[in-house]
Amino acid sequence: MNCDKNLYELAQKQLNKALEISNIDDKIKTILQEPKNEIIINIPVKLDNNTVKLLKSYRVQHNNILGPYKGGLRFSEHIYLDEIKSLSMWMTIKTALQKLPYGGAKGGIKINPRDFSSNELEIISRTYTKYLYKYIGINTDIPAPDMGTNSQIMDWMSDTYQTISHGHISCFTGKSIQCGGSQGREEATGFGVVTCIKNWAKLNNFDLRGKTYIIQGFGNVGSNTAIFLSYLGLICTAVGDHSGYIKNPEGFNIFKLKNYVKENGSIENYNSGTKITKEDFFSTECDIIIPAALELVICGDEAKSINCKLIVEAANGPIDLEAEEVLKSKNIYIIPDILANSGGVIVSYYEWLQNKRYEYWDRDEILKRLEHKMTVTYNEAYKYSTNKDINLRMACYNIALEHINSVYQRKGFNFNY
Ligand SMILES: NC(=O)c1ccc[n+]([C@@H]2O[C@H](COP(=O)([O-])OP(=O)(O)OC[C@H]3O[C@@H](n4cnc5c(N)ncnc54)[C@H](O)[C@@H]3O)[C@@H](O)[C@H]2O)c1
Repeated sequence: MNCDKNLYELAQKQLNKALEISNIDDKIKTILQEPKNEIIINIPVKLDNNTVKLLKSYRVQHNNILGPYKGGLRFSEHIYLDEIKSLSMWMTIKTALQKLPYGGAKGGIKINPRDFSSNELEIISRTYTKYLYKYIGINTDIPAPDMGTNSQIMDWMSDTYQTISHGHISCFTGKSIQCGGSQGREEATGFGVVTCIKNWAKLNNFDLRGKTYIIQGFGNVGSNTAIFLSYLGLICTAVGDHSGYIKNPEGFNIFKLKNYVKENGSIENYNSGTKITKEDFFSTECDIIIPAALELVICGDEAKSINCKLIVEAANGPIDLEAEEVLKSKNIYIIPDILANSGGVIVSYYEWLQNKRYEYWDRDEILKRLEHKMTVTYNEAYKYSTNKDINLRMACYNIALEHINSVYQRKGFNFNY
C-alpha cells in the first residue's frame, strides 16, 4: 500500500520550496501553481460481453511556454485528477531541465489493464483518442507511454489519430519500430536511470562492480534499468512488483527474470529466491535502492528502515517530504525523478524529430546522444547543488525554473499561446 497521502500535496510543496529559493518573476510563480487545462472525459466502451462500461479518462496540460505539451498516458485503476496534475507539473519541470522544446502534460484512463482483453484494450485506446483528438497534435500535445501502457497502445492511438484527423504519426511517441517508433525508446528511461547512477559513482569515486541494489517495479523502467546495471556488474538482491517481493542474496539472473515476467506478467512464482514482505524489501541492506513502480512508496516508516547509500527515483514521486528529511539525516543521497527518469522524454523527443524529418537514426547513435545529454544535465545540476548548497532535487527545479523564467521574460506575458 502507498502512504496515505495526496500526491498533489507533495508536488505543490516541492514546487513551492523551489520557488521560494529561486529568483524568478512572481507572475511565473502564479502561472505554475495550476495546470492550464484539465480535461476529463467519461468514455463509453463496449466490452467483449456486449455490455457498456463508462471509463474515466484524463489529459492535464500544465504549461506550454517552451513548446507543445508532452507527457505520458497511464492505465491504472488508482489514478485520480490530483495525481495527473502532479505528474503534468513534473513534466513541465523535466522538459525544462533537459532544455527540450516541450511543455508538460500527463493523462490516462482509470482502468486496470490486466482486467481487459486485448480486443477491449484496443477499443478503449481508440475511443479515448477519438474523444481527445481535438486537444492533441504534433505541435499541440504529444502523448507517450507510461505505467500500464506500451508501444501497442501508442500504435492504436496513433493510427486512430491519423485516421480521423489526417494527422501526422509524430503526434504520439513510444510507438513500435514498425509503426514509426524510435530505436532505443523502449529502454530509454532505464538507460537514463543507469547513466545517472554512473555519474553519481564517478563523482563519488564509487566502484559499481559487485555492488548490490534492490528494485521495486519490474515493468518497462525497472527491467531495463536492471539489464543495464547487469552490464556494469551490479547485483540485484531483491525485487518487487504488484504481485509481491522476493529476495536472493546471491543475486537474480536479470535476463531470465525479464523473460519470466514477459511470459507470466509478474514475478509471482518465479523459481529463484524467497518471498519477503514489502517491509523486509525496503529494509534489505544494499548499496542502491531503485523505486521503479509507483508514487509515494517511501514514507516515514520505510525511510527509517532503509539502509543504503543511494536512492534513484526511477518512478515519479516515490518519496514523500517527511521521508526525504529522514533520508537526509541518514546521509542517503537521492537522484530525483525529474532528472533520473527523463531519458524517456528525451528519446521521445528524438522520435518526434525523426518522424518530422522522415529520418531513422540507429540505436547506438540514439543511446550515445542520450548518455551525453543526461551526463551534461547531471553535471550541471550537481555543480548547481554544490555551489548553492542545496540538494540535487532543488538544484534541478531551479535550473528548470530559471529556464522557464528566461523564456517568459523574452516572450512576454501575452498569453496568446
Ligand atoms: N515508461 C516510461 O518511459 C517512463 C518514463 C518516465 C517515468 N516513468 C515512471 O516509471 C514508473 C514505472 O513505469 P513503467 O513504464 O515501468 O510502468 P509499467 O507498467 O511497465 O511497470 C510498472 C511496474 O510497477 C509494478 N507495480 C504496480 N503496482 C505495484 C504495487 N502496488 N507495488 C509494487 N509494484 C507495483 C508493476 O507490477 C510493474 O512491474 C512510473 O512511475 C512512471 O510514471 C516511466
